[in-house]
Amino acid sequence: MKNTLIAPSVLAADFANLQRDIEMINNSEADWFHIDIMDGVFVPNISFGMPVLEAISKHAKKTIDVHLMIVDPDRYIKTFADLGSNILTVHYEACTHLHRTLQAIKAEGMKAGVALNPHTNVSLLEDVIKDIDMVCIMSVNPGFGGQSFIENTYKKVRQLKEIITRNNASTIIEIDGGVTSKNAVQLVEAGADVLVAGNFVFKAENPTETISELKKMTSK
Ligand code: DX5
Ligand code: ZN
Repeated sequence: MKNTLIAPSVLAADFANLQRDIEMINNSEADWFHIDIMDGVFVPNISFGMPVLEAISKHAKKTIDVHLMIVDPDRYIKTFADLGSNILTVHYEACTHLHRTLQAIKAEGMKAGVALNPHTNVSLLEDVIKDIDMVCIMSVNPGFGGQSFIENTYKKVRQLKEIITRNNASTIIEIDGGVTSKNAVQLVEAGADVLVAGNFVFKAENPTETISELKKMTSK
């Protein structure tokens, strides 16, 4: 196996102890911070916005991976670059001119990601795959943490991996939603490079050890 990246989702942190939880990630074997921004329109929930990300950025010492679950994300590309986002992921379903959006993200010096809802077929990315740094395959319906993993995800990962290889692209694959030690290895074997984990990490008795466990089992 390879070096699989582990990205704890801050959505599952204790917001009253945010600095403590950020330091936990800093001092763990985690690779990235995964930050979920929801607008209550694209998804039925509202998470947190710019002031909170600004506060997180001040303490976070690892790559900041921002997942925008918002309509018309083009409006905020520069704002998220200024807030310290290293990777900016927009939803395929929220973009009318995805190619243009990807170029705008890169023009701000960030890596460009595209997230796919569970019902969206990976083949829709074929014509832009070389422009995408990361595809985030949603393994739950976006909007909430703590949901159960959708089994059809394995098939989507394999199909996407095939598209990436066939196009000689360097796109990496992230999985988001319901990731646990029960599905992590199988996801990596299917082609996943980054695993997001919210509740599995933060609701564990020992989050630091849980991150190490995920890292170890997926990076041999
Ligand atoms: C869901 C978010 C996820 C979520 C994952 O809309 O995009 O990042 O925080 O949480 P878990 O791992 O608990 O499913
Ligand atoms: Zn997410």
